[in-house]
Amino acid sequence: MCGIVGYLGSRDPKDIIIEGLSKLEYRGYDSAGVAIFNENQLVRVRAEGKLSQLKQKIQDLNLTFTGPSGIGHTRWATHGRPSEHNAHPHSSGPIMLVHNGIIENYLELKKELMGKGYQFESDTDSEVVAHLINDRWKQYGNLLTAIKKVLPELKGAFSIVVLNQENPNELVAFKDGPPLILGLGQNEYFLVSDVAASLAYTSRYIYLDDREIVRVTPEGYAVFSESGVRLSKTVTEVAWSADQVEKRGFRHYMLKEIYEQARSVAHCLEPFLDREQFRLKPMMEWSSVEGVHIVACGTSFYAGIYGQYLMEILGGIPCRVDVASEFRYRDPVLSPGTLVLAISQSGETADTLGAVRLAKAQGSPVVSICNVKQSSLDRESDVTFYMNCGPEIGVASTKAFTATLVLLNLLAMDLARYRKRLNADLEFQMLRRLLELPSQIEVVLAYDKYFQDAADALKRYRGFLFLGRHVLYPIAMEGALKLKELSYLHAEGYPAGEMKHGPLALIDEQMAVVVLAPQDDLYEKTLSNLQEVKARGAKVIAVGTLEDEQLKSLSDRYLSIPKVPWNINPILAVIPLQLMAYHLACSLGHDVDQPRNLAKSVTVE
Ligand code: F6R
Repeated sequence: MCGIVGYLGSRDPKDIIIEGLSKLEYRGYDSAGVAIFNENQLVRVRAEGKLSQLKQKIQDLNLTFTGPSGIGHTRWATHGRPSEHNAHPHSSGPIMLVHNGIIENYLELKKELMGKGYQFESDTDSEVVAHLINDRWKQYGNLLTAIKKVLPELKGAFSIVVLNQENPNELVAFKDGPPLILGLGQNEYFLVSDVAASLAYTSRYIYLDDREIVRVTPEGYAVFSESGVRLSKTVTEVAWSADQVEKRGFRHYMLKEIYEQARSVAHCLEPFLDREQFRLKPMMEWSSVEGVHIVACGTSFYAGIYGQYLMEILGGIPCRVDVASEFRYRDPVLSPGTLVLAISQSGETADTLGAVRLAKAQGSPVVSICNVKQSSLDRESDVTFYMNCGPEIGVASTKAFTATLVLLNLLAMDLARYRKRLNADLEFQMLRRLLELPSQIEVVLAYDKYFQDAADALKRYRGFLFLGRHVLYPIAMEGALKLKELSYLHAEGYPAGEMKHGPLALIDEQMAVVVLAPQDDLYEKTLSNLQEVKARGAKVIAVGTLEDEQLKSLSDRYLSIPKVPWNINPILAVIPLQLMAYHLACSLGHDVDQPRNLAKSVTVE
């Protein structure tokens, strides 16, 4: 939610900042803006809409920037509608800042500042911080001191980078909640929301912790605690390369990421395989675990529901799953011995972090599945299992989902082995099946043309139901989510057995029904549900195993996946759904990498 870039160095700050913002646009794309020094003058340019509008405006104005510093922002609106006057950077006197997050007590602060005569030009909460810093700066004459005074007054979630018109050679930034990362180049510094923004220039980063302040000048950087104590911070070498955040010839990041799944699944498996013994390496200590409680949001939540089946079926212990935003506000009761398992691609989702903090406060151990190393979730968890699937830029999550399903298999196997429910033979068979996954994913991807044809046929429908049973039920919900977030059409995922309890009433010739019916123990039951919707006039698209003639004869369109065991079916069955959603959205002319109203990495609640 909102991407920020600050730069101090000898390169052209405009190029660095615009390029950085283009890598962060997935975090918000309602408006964008920069403030960059030119001959000691701070010049601000802002534009409503996507970053391309800002670039055009800078070009039209024929502006040059000499540096040495600047800040930029791409916005996902919280307070104040998307418009130029609400776009960042916000200013007050010589102070200019960019903000990611929400200032919860902004109304109170605004009142106080208005009382002192400050005039507001936007409807945002962020502008309050600019005036507040200006106010304290006037008092103390030093930006760092001003920020130290302001930080205790702010409530909410924020990461903020500040420039002062009076001193082009200084950037000060601070955070509480959303990520803020300091990139260390050769005599140059980057302050970014995500390393993707500056990977082309450096792989060395410092991850700021909450309520820390960093000051950057040409002489170096210094990190301080809120109380002003100078801190020594670890420099992390980031293994991701700049090339990984490019589209590499694909039309969209999402398509590239769907196609990366064979490789990403293999990368995700690798660290946990003992190839000599052909066994799963021990993953974690289960002796005190009597139950598992999974917390996550969106696609990661659906992965969590799949995980619930595995933990109970393979592991034989109770498992619950919660949407993190519900869990954290309902006084959940976590019995002793409950392990909390948080799932998050970004590791920065505010509600998932809130749920984890609550669980920790209640004394529960927290294990997480996460893609971004050094993210807040990674740092706050007792143990993290990495998805290892490389940067995911497309707003709709794809490769992180399949990697998570693989990790959930491994964790459930590890638990089952500890609880003596997985003998060596079964362990061998399950591992073999997981190792075959990359080539089976390639097989499914090779059918993309059929998924595109199916998507074409779906264009005339106004509503969609996705049906599945057992471990395919979360896949039905994930398929519906992908379709609605990209196509802006109504879609619901349902357990196939629930249809006659209400949703059958929705069926008419405007409704398409996607039925997940690969061969498993509940195949016959799913087929009966399919007949029920078919009998009521729905158009049926079925996903089944190989050339399933019976299923084919009952469906209007048939999409095939290889024959695999029940726990693997979901990992393959989701791919046609991802691709159908992708193609449908493309043919409707929507921007699949940046769907309307959404942003990746939801750092506000
Ligand atoms: C949907 C999607 C979102 C995310 C959700 C959680 O395609 O991407 O629903 O899954 O915002 O994000 P993470 O996994 O980063 O916590």
